[in-house]
Amino acid sequence: MKLIVAVDKNWGIGKNNGLLFDLKADMKHFVSHTRGKTVLMGYNTLRSLPGGMPLKGRTNIVLYPEGDENDAIEKGYILARSLEELSREVNAHSPEDAYVIGGAMMYHTMLPYCEEAVITKVDADGGATVFLDDLDALDNWQLVASEPPMDDCGYSVTFCTYKNNNVLPF
Ligand SMILES: NC(=O)c1ccc[n+]([C@@H]2O[C@H](COP(=O)([O-])OP(=O)(O)OC[C@H]3O[C@@H](n4cnc5c(N)ncnc54)[C@H](OP(=O)(O)O)[C@@H]3O)[C@@H](O)[C@H]2O)c1
Repeated sequence: MKLIVAVDKNWGIGKNNGLLFDLKADMKHFVSHTRGKTVLMGYNTLRSLPGGMPLKGRTNIVLYPEGDENDAIEKGYILARSLEELSREVNAHSPEDAYVIGGAMMYHTMLPYCEEAVITKVDADGGATVFLDDLDALDNWQLVASEPPMDDCGYSVTFCTYKNNNVLPF
């Protein structure tokens, strides 16, 4: 399992239940990684998507203890009401091809189980209210690749990969 996220220079990821930046190249990067795969998200992130709808062309699993099965069926996502249910569903949907796509609570919960983090670093302060854990401050996470910075809609962005040297089984 991997996670994919865009962070600002403070490891900020969102505010007002939305993203910090509107980035075209990063969106393409996100789609190229997740197309055809399984994506895992918390309920706030589902709500933040256009129309509150799951992502097309991907198997969407949503962690939401208070969730409603009818809403899940209607919108076309798999509801997990606990980490146990989430584990069962992920393991039934090729976990090696699964990406955690947010938000802050979900990233924090799933971090120990991810082998890789695909991170877009945006060299700006987005005024975030929710954050990813600072991977540079965690002993088991290591930056293993970093592409040259590029311009994306006026922002300097860098695509990076971190590896987890102590992945826990999920
Ligand atoms: N920059 C990026 O790449 C990126 C990507 C995705 C999202 N975001 C941003 O992240 C923000 C949303 O983050 P968020 O933390 O508010 O929401 P979130 O993680 O999307 O969703 C939180 C929900 O998931 C459930 N949940 C999460 N972890 C859980 C756990 N360990 N056990 C049980 N339930 C759990 C919670 O249920 P309960 O409330 O019932 O406990 C809660 O309803 C938005 O601003 C969004 O735009 C940024």
